[in-house]
Amino acid sequence: MSAAEALFDLPAAETDERLGKHRRLIVRQESPFNGGPPPDLLTQTALTPNDLFFVRNHGEIPEIDPAAWRLSVGGLVRRPLSLTLEEIRHLPKVTLTATLQCAGIRRQELATVEPIPHELPWGPEAVSTAEWSGACLSDLLAAAEARRRARHVAFVGRDETERHGERFCFGGSIPLAKAWGQEVLLAYEMNGEPLPPVHGAPLRVVVPGYIGARSVKWLTRIAVQEAPSDNYFQAKAYRMFPASMRPETVDYAAGFMLGELPVNSVICSPGEGESLPAGRVRIAGWAMAGGGRRVERVEVSADGGRSWTVAGVDDERGDWAWRLWNAELDLSAGSHEVVCRAWDSAAQTQPEHPAQVWNFKGYANNAWHRVRITCRPQ
Ligand code: MTE
Repeated sequence: MSAAEALFDLPAAETDERLGKHRRLIVRQESPFNGGPPPDLLTQTALTPNDLFFVRNHGEIPEIDPAAWRLSVGGLVRRPLSLTLEEIRHLPKVTLTATLQCAGIRRQELATVEPIPHELPWGPEAVSTAEWSGACLSDLLAAAEARRRARHVAFVGRDETERHGERFCFGGSIPLAKAWGQEVLLAYEMNGEPLPPVHGAPLRVVVPGYIGARSVKWLTRIAVQEAPSDNYFQAKAYRMFPASMRPETVDYAAGFMLGELPVNSVICSPGEGESLPAGRVRIAGWAMAGGGRRVERVEVSADGGRSWTVAGVDDERGDWAWRLWNAELDLSAGSHEVVCRAWDSAAQTQPEHPAQVWNFKGYANNAWHRVRITCRPQ
């Protein structure tokens, strides 16, 4: 029985053997596999079971022999390193709870403003939370002795992908100041189990508070450098372009690199189009702030934002995890649109409409989340 089956009393044998993923995942692409948990299961537990955790793959899962695998640390360092998995396991082990969220989350809503071709049509399911264990990246940086002029740490994974006729490995980078943070892990365990192949075994980066793309899976190389990574996924994709730009007119330098996540929140229950009895209706979901900021408040409205009800937010699980929330609204018989918005500790909140954040790659949609429901007379 899989973790999700045991937790949610789902029928047995619902797990896809090949990927170890539950069949209730909303699949956005079969090959390479991309999918995420349905909203009704997502917020039933603060930690997402491994077989429900969303998957974002740009290429096929590489086959890696953990015994032959090595991690190299080079670039602007005094002592380049080449480490085995055993050596990484011997470093002090850190465990923390962190939410991963893809920059493409809620792209579908942006696409209602103007179509976003050639990108995965993610709904709100490109997010999940796990307890990660591994070594601190900062321990490796200290051992390798980064040089003074270093400003960025670049990561390269083993998986290959093709863009514009070129084949290359997935990669990305984070600023050195972030890389020194004790929260940035080289993880080999996920929710107390060995890191599953689909999530980057034997070793992946976990960069809490940043877009998921920087948490490079199947890690093979770390390079300390003056400039950000020139990998396609840092230099061209996962950048925020001006609203006026289109694929035909793209100037990559005009897009800024995405890093810290914007504050976001989503209603998971009731679901879109649900019909339920009028009266007191429980609204529940998740909220997440980027860059280690706190989710301070979540609010829901059933009158288009004229009035707001403050939701109860559960306890924090450290600085890097989402917060689950719920609220009750008195709803009369008829149809309603319920919206939610969160506030973070920098007093930032979410924009009202996706049109305000539309960009041709469809990243970072954090507009108020909306569900339309029907309440039946009691
Ligand atoms: N790392 C590699 N090597 N290849 C990838 O395709 N996808 C990235 C990131 N790391 C990716 C990767 C993206 S865009 C996201 S959102 C997260 O992994 C998703 O992690 P998950 O599949 O474990 O949920």
